[in-house]
Amino acid sequence: MSHFLPVALEHASRLLNHGPTILITSTDGTRRNVMAAAWSTPVEFTPPRIAVVIDKSTFTRELVISSGKFGICVPGAAAIDMTYAVGSISGKEGDKFERYGLASANGPVLGLPVIEEGCAAWLECRLIREQHTEEAYDTFFGEVVAAAADRRVFDNGHWLFDASNPGLHTIHHLGAGKFAPASSIVSAKPL
Ligand SMILES: Cc1cc2nc3c(=O)[nH]c(=O)nc-3n(C[C@H](O)[C@H](O)[C@H](O)COP(=O)(O)O)c2cc1C
Repeated sequence: MSHFLPVALEHASRLLNHGPTILITSTDGTRRNVMAAAWSTPVEFTPPRIAVVIDKSTFTRELVISSGKFGICVPGAAAIDMTYAVGSISGKEGDKFERYGLASANGPVLGLPVIEEGCAAWLECRLIREQHTEEAYDTFFGEVVAAAADRRVFDNGHWLFDASNPGLHTIHHLGAGKFAPASSIVSAKPL
């Protein structure tokens, strides 16, 4: 049974605001792919827009440019090995979903592959065409058109990291395959 519920688009930025490692998914209708990415950020609230960095050497870049869309999945600590694996090999060498036995569904708006098992959230993004930026840099901008999150870890627009859901705590890449999962939440008090 899926624990995922839609996330209001005005709350979509919160899924990436704290800087988790993400998976970028892509498809051109025939081929599909997934890669790990440490570099992503929200850039605008309304409409919700984000930026991701996709290196020129990747298969992901080819599919994103040809299809005009990309998906984002936010893996939890349970998916650290899978995240590192899909960030260590190119889809040019074969379908990583098959290779690693990854189950995916088609996103509701753009049909992008969305992975729920081991993940805390996903988003579908329409590519904002910026020819100069794409050619000069590795940064891509996207408008979020659908988002969902596992209600056990993201509820009513807020993350809930606690001892009940350690496998869903988002992961932060420290380099060389080492990750720090998000841990307990501390609320700031007025000084
Ligand atoms: C934890 C992690 C984070 C990464 N972050 C990025 C990133 O932000 N941008 C990027 O272009 N590549 C990043 N990579 C490398 C890509 O995931 C890697 O080049 C991948 O093999 C590309 O796959 P593809 O050719 O199938 O698209 C990262 C790899 C790992 C393991």
